[in-house]
Amino acid sequence: PKCIWLSRHGESIYNVEQKIGGDSSLSERGLKYASKLKSLIKENVASNDEQNLSVWTSTLTRTQETAQYLPYKKLEWKALDELDAGVCDGMTYEEIEEIYPEDFKARDEDKYEYRYRGGESYRDVVIRLEPVIMELERQENVLIITHQAVLRCIYAYFMNVPKEESPWVSIPLHTLIKLEPRAYGTKVTRIKANI
Ligand code: G3H
Repeated sequence: PKCIWLSRHGESIYNVEQKIGGDSSLSERGLKYASKLKSLIKENVASNDEQNLSVWTSTLTRTQETAQYLPYKKLEWKALDELDAGVCDGMTYEEIEEIYPEDFKARDEDKYEYRYRGGESYRDVVIRLEPVIMELERQENVLIITHQAVLRCIYAYFMNVPKEESPWVSIPLHTLIKLEPRAYGTKVTRIKANI
C-alpha cells in the first residue's frame, strides 16, 4: 500500500466512564473528532490519493459514528472489532483488579498471551487480523478506524514492533497516524486533532 491511515474511534461514553469493551456511542467530544476527521484527512491526503481512499471500520457503533461524515467508500470488518474482554467486558480496570486479581496480574506479566476468560488475547487478535492485513497489502490507500488493541497489532505489524512490546504501544485518542511503507522501512507521521 502507498499509505495507511490509522485512527481510533472518537472518545466513547465507555471511554469517559473508563469501562472497557461494550458497544457505546461517541461522547460529545468524540463526535467533534468525527467531524474534524473529515478536514484532517482532506488537509493531509494528496488529492490524487483521495479519489481511491477507502475507509474500513469495525462493526461497532463507535467506529461507524467516527466514520459517518467521511465521503469515501466504506467497508465494515468483524475482524476489526475490539479485543474481546470476555467476562470483563463492561468493567473498569479497578473492578477487574478487585474481582479477578490473579487475572489482572497475569495479564500485566504477559499481556500478549493473556486471554480473558471467555474472551481473547492479543495473539488471538493478530490471528484474526490476517485476512485484513492481506487485503490491506493489495490496496493503495486505506483509512482504518478501529480500536486501541487492534491498532496496536496493525501498527506493530508495519513497524516491526516485537510482539511482547506490541500490547503497550501508545495509540492515543483523536490522533491520526499515517503509515507509508517504503523499501527501507515504514515512515510514520502523527497528526493530532487537538480536541
Ligand atoms: O478496551 C480495551 C482496550 O482498548 C485495550 O486496552 O489491552 O491496554 O487493556 P488494553
